[in-house]
Amino acid sequence: MNNIKELPIGIFDSGVGGLTVVKELQAQLPGEAFIYLGDTARYPYGPRSPEIIKQFALECSSYLLKQPLKVLIIACNTASANAVGLLRKNFTLPIIEVITPGAQLAAESTRIGKVGIIGTTATIQSSAYIKALLKFDPRLKTFSQACPLFVALAEEGWISGEVPKLITQHYLKDLIRAQIDTLIMGCTHYPLLKAVIGETMGKEVQLIDSAYATVNVLKKYLKENGLLSDRIGPLPNKYYVTDAPDRFARVGSHFLNKELNDVQKIFIDKQS
Ligand code: DGL
Repeated sequence: MNNIKELPIGIFDSGVGGLTVVKELQAQLPGEAFIYLGDTARYPYGPRSPEIIKQFALECSSYLLKQPLKVLIIACNTASANAVGLLRKNFTLPIIEVITPGAQLAAESTRIGKVGIIGTTATIQSSAYIKALLKFDPRLKTFSQACPLFVALAEEGWISGEVPKLITQHYLKDLIRAQIDTLIMGCTHYPLLKAVIGETMGKEVQLIDSAYATVNVLKKYLKENGLLSDRIGPLPNKYYVTDAPDRFARVGSHFLNKELNDVQKIFIDKQS
């Protein structure tokens, strides 16, 4: 029988962005092995419809679940916002998504009850962050803004200078006007732009990193359920992608701040 504690954690994302969750995992839980799947063939999910995002999320999860896992993490905000209900209906293992942890941390952090949310178009259109925030505190006032160009800037490594600054000022002007004191970076890529977002919003606005909050929730879950790994020595981590492994390794090394090797291209079954 498998020792559940030593099973890997499954993580999936639309592409490279979920590596911000991997980075947090490696910082907070360095003994945990993981299998990462980036659906690079169908990236980006952000401009797509809820129906297709659900289908992709189901197919990615089914692929990862061909092997025993102790937890599945939906690292992608867009997939979390649109598909977590469907995935929980289809699979029995514990599934952790990135929306609830980010919303909880924001609800606990705001002093004046005004929270901003930035994310992809599909995340913002789902209102998933707003619903989660209001569950934690129905008195909160929320303000949302889709920032689709941030994803491309992060992947290009174009995270400082005049162009990112102008784009950020454009996207965030209504949030500045709304005088929020807390801003959820509700997309895997946005932590890479933290400096320019922080500079634009002003230092009195707290930035909430959903990846950080999610790994905190994971840590608590593993501790409370006696599922923390006791493993010593190298971890059998795996990186799978559905297209362009070389690009994933190159861009991913910027997200992780270290060299990324051994990215394997796989094929996932389509589900009707
Ligand atoms: N991973 C996505 C998210 O966190 C961003 C990239 C995409 O649009 O697929 O929402």
